[in-house]
Parts: sequence; structure tokens; C-alpha cells
Amino acid sequence: MAVISDNCPDIDVTLVDKDKNKIDAWNNKDLSKLPIFEPGLKEVISRNRGKNLFFSCEIKQSIQEADMVFISVNTPTKIKGLGAGYASDLKWVESSARLVAEYSEGHTIVVEKSTVPVRTAELIQEILGESKTGINSKNNKTFSVISSPEFLAEGTAIKDLENPDRVLIGGSDKVSMNLLKEIYSRWICNEKILLTNVWSSELSKLIANAFLAQRVSSINSISALCESTGANIHEVVKAIGSDKRIGAKFLSPGPGFGGSCFKKDILNLVYLCRYYKLEETANYWEQVLFINYWQKKRISSLIIEKFFGTVSNKKILILGFSFKCNTNDTRESPAISISKDLIDNGAQLFINDPKVQKEQIEIELEIKEFEVDELSLGSWNFINDLDNVPRNIDAIIVLTEWKEYIGINWEKLCSKMRRPAWIFDTRNIIPKEVIKESNINYWQVGKSL
Ligand code: UGA
Repeated sequence: MAVISDNCPDIDVTLVDKDKNKIDAWNNKDLSKLPIFEPGLKEVISRNRGKNLFFSCEIKQSIQEADMVFISVNTPTKIKGLGAGYASDLKWVESSARLVAEYSEGHTIVVEKSTVPVRTAELIQEILGESKTGINSKNNKTFSVISSPEFLAEGTAIKDLENPDRVLIGGSDKVSMNLLKEIYSRWICNEKILLTNVWSSELSKLIANAFLAQRVSSINSISALCESTGANIHEVVKAIGSDKRIGAKFLSPGPGFGGSCFKKDILNLVYLCRYYKLEETANYWEQVLFINYWQKKRISSLIIEKFFGTVSNKKILILGFSFKCNTNDTRESPAISISKDLIDNGAQLFINDPKVQKEQIEIELEIKEFEVDELSLGSWNFINDLDNVPRNIDAIIVLTEWKEYIGINWEKLCSKMRRPAWIFDTRNIIPKEVIKESNINYWQVGKSL
């Protein structure tokens, strides 16, 4: 929305939330304290906030004044009830639609931005439709529901929004669709703006994420085969990625995919397939998740095995806790399950991340900093500055590909390790020459030792 305000100075964009703390954080004068770290975001906000970009808790008034309402709420996987563990929880989409139904005036275009299961637009339309016939309704209200899913990736969000591969607008009301198209066409060429029916638009979002996740799981499964056979994953990636039909992107092996979307969207897709009795299709896509789970477990197990089956009392430095670089988002980060496995096996972890706060790590690991796990005696603490890494560490595990880690003084860090020491590079970012000279064992994903 901030990018819309940046490209359309004549359009007022108001972001509303019930949570006053969140809104206060977005209104913070100190732009370095915005709740989300995203390259380029604070610049966009500083250019437009207070001019045509507003953050507010005034939900009623904002909806009343709006010609277009974007529903961009979370749709996490349901943890209870029908479809638990697979289906998306639409309670926030539903409550947002009810607010629009209650407060809107005149004609309102409702844009479904959240990633939703197919046919959610129908649910929104139904809720809005009811408001026209309900007891308190004003009869002059009309609505048009269209879908326009978001394809930005964290860490490159502003770039992706400025120059997207495509923008999708799904619906049946051509007038509303063209109004939204007109907004996007201020900075995106018309050929990239695709108009589809509403269900194709909703489904395309799930399928795009499923295909991307499938590539990551495919290459991660092959990383294990490379380690066993002596093939080198980077040579394989180069060889297959040079084939234009396959393409070179999204083929980096790693500790498994994280983030708030891939897992949730595939679970949702699997649920949808099973709902339509397409068991084979559901099983096929579910396998992408099994491989992702397996890759994380495979990595924590092999670390333990390299220490002859025990990491109890071992000092291990974890480099990176976010699910990928250039974001402070830790949702579904592979660092969570790998760190938990090591703590459960008695390791003493020192965790560093350039952007993730220790409070966030505490929430994800469900054990407080310095607290000792009763059964395993494992623990963790946060290392803000790598100069403070203690002596005699046994292992370093690179879990996020932050560019800061490439430029580390590896010689100095390696000098703090006690032998036999191991470096596990799950992102293949450490220059091998540095490690070679320091007599330290080195494991890289997708390469044999
Ligand atoms: C993903 C999609 O890329 C976006 O198009 C989509 O809009 C977004 O989900 C969403 O639905 O909101 P995001 O989760 O932010 O974006 O990040 P990605 O760049 O897709 O990375 C996801 C995970 O896959 C990360 O853990 C990353 O490290 C991993 N990954 C990615 C690899 O391990 N290897 C790769 O080659 C690429």
C-alpha cells in the first residue's frame, strides 16, 4: 500500500488496524524502529507518511470514506476445528468483511489481497450482500469484490512491488477491475497486468507458491544425493539451470524453506484437493512439505552425528535466525527446528542475527535466554557482537545467508574454536579457502566432504 501511495500522490492510502500498538509503531518518528525491516521501506514511508499515507485506528471513518478497501489480513493455518492443520483460518477475512459491510457508504470496491482459499471472494460477497438486506442496512450500499493477490517476497518487497513480473486482477465486474488496473498502470506496463476470473486469480497465488516451494524441495532432495555420490550441487544447478526450460532461479539448496507462506499455502492446496476428492494431487503436493521437514531434520541429525552422536555440552554458534536474509521475519524459519533439536540434545547455543531481536528468538524457541532445559541441560543465549563469541566453541552453523556473514573475519573466529571443530554451512556462503587453512572440518550442503 505504501508503494501505491508513492506512485499515486493524488490517492490517499490509509492503513487501519485495531491494534493501537501496531499503528503507533508504524507512526513512530524514528523510522529505524518500524515494526518490519524491509530494504527501502523506511524511505517510501518517510516520503509519503502524513501526506497521502496514513496509519490509523479509525476503522469506521476510514471505511466510510474509502472507495476501495483492500483486505490484507493474515490467513494462518487453522489449528482447531474442521480442516485443522491444513485449511486456512478465514476468521480475520470474515471479520474485516463484516466491518466493511457495516461501515461502508455508497459503492465500495473490496479487493481481496490476503492469500485465501479458492472461492473466498464468494464468502466476502455473501457477507457484504447480507448487509444490504439486514435490519440496520442502508439501502444505498453496493459492493464489488475483486481479487488481486500479492506476489512480493520479503527482503525484496519494494523492488518486487515497483517492478513486478505481473499483477493479477480477478473478478467479473470489469468496471471495478479496470479502476484497480488504472491505479497499477501508473507505474506498471499494461502487458503485465493480467485480468482473469476470480477463482483463477485466487488459485494462481497458491499454485505460484507451491511451484516455488517445489523447486526448493527438489533441489534440497538432490543436495543429499550430491553429498552421497560426490557430485557438487552447484555444478548440477549450473548445468540444469542453463536449460532455459528449467531456468536458474530458485535452485539454491539450503536448510529448508521457511516464511509464513509456502507451508501454509501448500497445506491449503492439499486441503482443497482432498475436498474435491483429488487424493493423488493432494499427496503429490504434500510431498513437497515432507521433503522440507526431512531436510531440516537431516541437517540437525548430521550435525549430531559428526560429534559422534552427542552435542551435549558442546558450544555451538548459530549464524542467522531469520528464514532468509534481509528480513527480521522468523516465521517457520528452519533455524527454529534445527536450534530446538540441538538444545534437546544438550547443546549450548550462541545465536546471532543482524536483524532478529532476542525476544523474538525466545518466543520461537519457547525457552528463555540462559534458561537450562531440565531434561537435556541444553540452553541458548544471544550474541549481539561476534567479537563476544566465547573461546572454545565446537561448531558454527550458518543458517541464513546474510551478506554480513560472508565478510566475517573467519580467521579470527576460527581461532576461537577448539579442535576437533566443525563448520556447517547450510547456505554455501563461506569462502572455502579461509576454512581450509584453519584445520577445521567443513560441511557444505550438497557437497561431499
Ligand atoms: C514467497 C514467494 O516467493 C512470493 O512470491 C510470495 O508473494 C510470498 O511467498 C507470499 O506468499 O507472501 P517469501 O516467503 O517472502 O516469498 O520468500 P522466498 O524468497 O520465496 O523464500 C522462501 C524460502 O525459501 C526462504 O526460506 C528461502 O531461504 C528459501 N529458498 C528460496 C531456498 O532455500 N532456495 C531458493 O533457491 C529460494
